[in-house]
Amino acid sequence: MPLCPMRQILDEARKGGYGVGAYNVNNMEQIQAILQAASETQSPVIIQASRGALEYTNLVYLKHLMMAAVEDNPGLPVALHLDHGPNLKTCQEAIGLGFTSVMIDGSIDYDAKTPDGKHPARSFEDNIRVTKEVVDYAHARGVSVEGELGTLGGIEEDTHTDKVLLTEPDEVEEFVKRTGVDALALAIGTSHGAYKFKHEPVLALELISECRQRAPDTAFVMHGSSSVPKELVDEVNKYGGKLPGAMGVPMSSIQEAVKRGIQKINVDTDGRLVVTAAIRKVFALKPGEFDPRKYLGPARDALAQLIAAKMRDFGTAGHAKDYSSKTLEDMKTFYAKK
Ligand code: G3H
Ligand code: 13P
Ligand code: ZN
Repeated sequence: MPLCPMRQILDEARKGGYGVGAYNVNNMEQIQAILQAASETQSPVIIQASRGALEYTNLVYLKHLMMAAVEDNPGLPVALHLDHGPNLKTCQEAIGLGFTSVMIDGSIDYDAKTPDGKHPARSFEDNIRVTKEVVDYAHARGVSVEGELGTLGGIEEDTHTDKVLLTEPDEVEEFVKRTGVDALALAIGTSHGAYKFKHEPVLALELISECRQRAPDTAFVMHGSSSVPKELVDEVNKYGGKLPGAMGVPMSSIQEAVKRGIQKINVDTDGRLVVTAAIRKVFALKPGEFDPRKYLGPARDALAQLIAAKMRDFGTAGHAKDYSSKTLEDMKTFYAKK
């Protein structure tokens, strides 16, 4: 079965009222672990690669690893998505490699994920312009597109400053209509990485419900969705790591977000943590070990377990056989009729 268009996976999730994890990958072990979890729990899945991941894998390796993963797991809906595409050129590159979905991060000046002095938030009109360019190119090839309105960042620290802008529900309808995006990332107070909150998790979950009313047929995306479980941070620290005060989004908040209208749940950090904990453990307990398979293997197993648990918690488990994947040709026809 070929890679599945992300639009189809998210349409099905919206109809079924469940969330689908989008898991970041950079190497073979991560791809194998995620596919193993999807196969065990019979879940549709979105595999995503950042621009950094494309550079790290020299593009062609990632493409062929993904082809191997799909060949090894026939019958599972698997989308391949570009995470935080900075511009049209990178999106075109990913589409050329066979990605079935791309994100154009039009909310920030290219080259960054969070606004800073060098990369300020883009204006609404500029965001629409760069996003629409990508949608036109991608849809003509049957490829799905995720856009973003607002910028990532913790509510406690930065709201109402020029750094972090939560999604403005009043802008959602116009953005979706004028760009034609399939999915929209909402900024509700999450941020990337292991340090999302200083004191306790604070999220503007009510914004999701407000946005859902404005764009009933668009998939919504939550970036920065790692939970940074305390047990995992403790395990990393137990074996020599130093992650003081790491904190993430509680699973109960993610489940509430799904009820309110989120379909795509972006997870990278938790995978990094579980892999780090497993490798640190082998190095600490078996200092004589130097066969990479003896530490990458346990890391892969631990990652598969973590992702399988998320697939159950997000409600994705058991939905792999609800539908069979459309092709990009099918999607081209679908977009042409719109
Ligand atoms: O967007 C954030 C993801 O965690 C990807 O991170 O750019 O370090 O690959 P990366
Ligand atoms: P985390 O850092 O919370 O895993 O978020 C990942 C993400 O949003 C990738 O786009
Ligand atoms: Zn992100």
